Amino acid sequence: MTASLFEPRTLGALALSNAIVMAPMTRDRAGPGDVPGDLLVEYYRQRASAGLIVTEGVQPSADGKGYWRTPGIWSQAQVAGWRRVADAVHGEGGRIVMQLMHCGRVCVRANKGDDSRTIAPSAIPCADPVPGPDGVPVATEMPHALTLAEVRQVVGEYAVAAANARDAGFDGVELHCASGYLPNQFLNPGSNRRDDIYGGSAENRIRFAIEVLAAMADTIGAGRVGFRISPGNPYNDMADPDPQASFIPLLQAANRLGLAYVHLVDVADSLGWVRENWSGNLIANNGLKAGTAAALLDSGSAQAVSFGRYFISNPDLVERLRRGAELARVDRDHIYAGEARGYTDYPALADG
Ligand SMILES: Cc1cc2nc3c(=O)[nH]c(=O)nc-3n(C[C@H](O)[C@H](O)[C@H](O)COP(=O)(O)O)c2cc1C
Repeated sequence: MTASLFEPRTLGALALSNAIVMAPMTRDRAGPGDVPGDLLVEYYRQRASAGLIVTEGVQPSADGKGYWRTPGIWSQAQVAGWRRVADAVHGEGGRIVMQLMHCGRVCVRANKGDDSRTIAPSAIPCADPVPGPDGVPVATEMPHALTLAEVRQVVGEYAVAAANARDAGFDGVELHCASGYLPNQFLNPGSNRRDDIYGGSAENRIRFAIEVLAAMADTIGAGRVGFRISPGNPYNDMADPDPQASFIPLLQAANRLGLAYVHLVDVADSLGWVRENWSGNLIANNGLKAGTAAALLDSGSAQAVSFGRYFISNPDLVERLRRGAELARVDRDHIYAGEARGYTDYPALADG
């Protein structure tokens, strides 16, 4: 009944040994300089039996950092650190893409470098508080509204980040276009009040995301680029009475780019209309279990399925699903803190 989960899949240029994807999850454990160190190498290596790993959100620039101890992909030290991660995953026969997450206005000053800026399409702060270094949510600061020239610079930063990810040995990148981060801030009419070619009509509000996707596709090949959306998700001050008005034009424009996949976090019953408007591969996510995930594959609604929380506590999730084994529970106190605890100390079945 769940056999389709274990069949190989091809998403663009990405060849997956099974249809089970590890969803991106921020875990706040990068080292000094936002460099991924030994802990991250071990964490991703342990989970390499996923058909594809999507890393935690990674900032393409110092400005793009919003949370505590998230890793970057803009310095040479960061590239070197990620190379160790990619090598470890490939050494186990896995595939890994990097999620590029520019937080834009969703950030707390104490989480990032003093010389970095908080930027957004418009000078409208995120009304929802964001966790600071100790995990306690605090108010965000007023963002700087990007000038036209600065918008183009940021697009260029993403392209460099994608090139850096490939340089580090990654199989591709995923643009984080959900959860209220920078591309989502351009898409949403509440956070984007620009009156230039990046604001106003849906055609203008999708422009930033499409330019970023096109720039990354030009740099590393369209078959190595995917993007993540979550229409209707109000998280990070993104309430939107009509998400289809923005996301359908986005999907239709992205169809023309020939990308590897769209990764849908289906929080608001959007799978039906996303599928109708997206002609490429779809990775489905949110609250899936083996049965519901396999049904999505079997019906053709999705070409792959992703699991987030199960992968935190089950490094060998693929094998556990194959055997129908019990799944371990997440240690909720150590999701964002604890170094190895609650991170690399979950045993695989064979070990435990
Ligand atoms: C601890 C944690 C961190 C997360 N960080 C990210 C992130 O960096 N990028 C992202 O796109 N989604 C992030 N998510 C959302 C997950 O990728 C996923 O969409 C969500 O957990 C629902 O899938 P699940 O029901 O299988 O857990 C995070 C979720 C969790 C639990």
